[in-house]
Amino acid sequence: MNTLSDADLDNRMVTKAYARWAPVYDLVFGAVFERGRQAAIAAAERVGGRILEVGVGTGISLPNYSKNCRLCGVDISAPMLRKARERVSELGLSHVEGLWVMDAAHLSFPDNSFDVVVAQYVITTVPSPEATLDEFARVLKPGGEIVLVSRVGAEAGLRRSLEHWAQPAARKLGWRTEFSFERYSRWAAQARGMRLIERRAMPPFGHFCLIRFGKDGGAGSGYEAEPVRAAG
Ligand SMILES: C[S@@+](CC[C@H](N)C(=O)[O-])C[C@H]1O[C@@H](n2cnc3c(N)ncnc32)[C@H](O)[C@@H]1O
Repeated sequence: MNTLSDADLDNRMVTKAYARWAPVYDLVFGAVFERGRQAAIAAAERVGGRILEVGVGTGISLPNYSKNCRLCGVDISAPMLRKARERVSELGLSHVEGLWVMDAAHLSFPDNSFDVVVAQYVITTVPSPEATLDEFARVLKPGGEIVLVSRVGAEAGLRRSLEHWAQPAARKLGWRTEFSFERYSRWAAQARGMRLIERRAMPPFGHFCLIRFGKDGGAGSGYEAEPVRAAG
């Protein structure tokens, strides 16, 4: 697994950063990430059932899920989650079961609790991405899906150099710029019962991806038959 380096993140730094982002988050990151959120919600709704959104933030995506889903949300930032609670109450989002301050790497839900675990723009902000994905897999029911929208760093070239250069500043803002897709594929290769089922480039600039992992088992799980769909 990866060790924490100087350029890496810790939860204290992340909570400090998102306490600052909370009042303006929707204004700054609302529209720019909208297409990715819509794609993640569409993927989650194809599975349906009980959905956990990790790093739910201000709850910006909650009104867009179908009322047929049951939603739970967690976030490490209390100020971000306060915004989400206000949104749920103002919009009367009765399909939201609960919102909790919780660390993505230490979820306090039993094994096999959710049909889908969604994390939009979150994996590159957590200190231990692989341990966090392990935790998603643990709380996921057999036959369920992990649906991520995440930044994917360049493997080489000018963008790779720029991302390396920008990493110390990005860390203060609460995320990583360097994060290769290989980390996801390596995680899926070693995680028992998990497989990559889709990788699709997302705006802005195709620097983000929709990434889906399936958990083996469950009635009618078709993962054995479904090839990896890779676009971008
Ligand atoms: C870039 S924001 C994404 C918010 C929202 N998902 C969206 O689509 O805009 C990242 C969110 O992840 C949360 N986060 C970061 N590290 C976390 C952790 N270890 N556990 C839970 N949430 C975390 C942050 O507090 C923040 O709300």
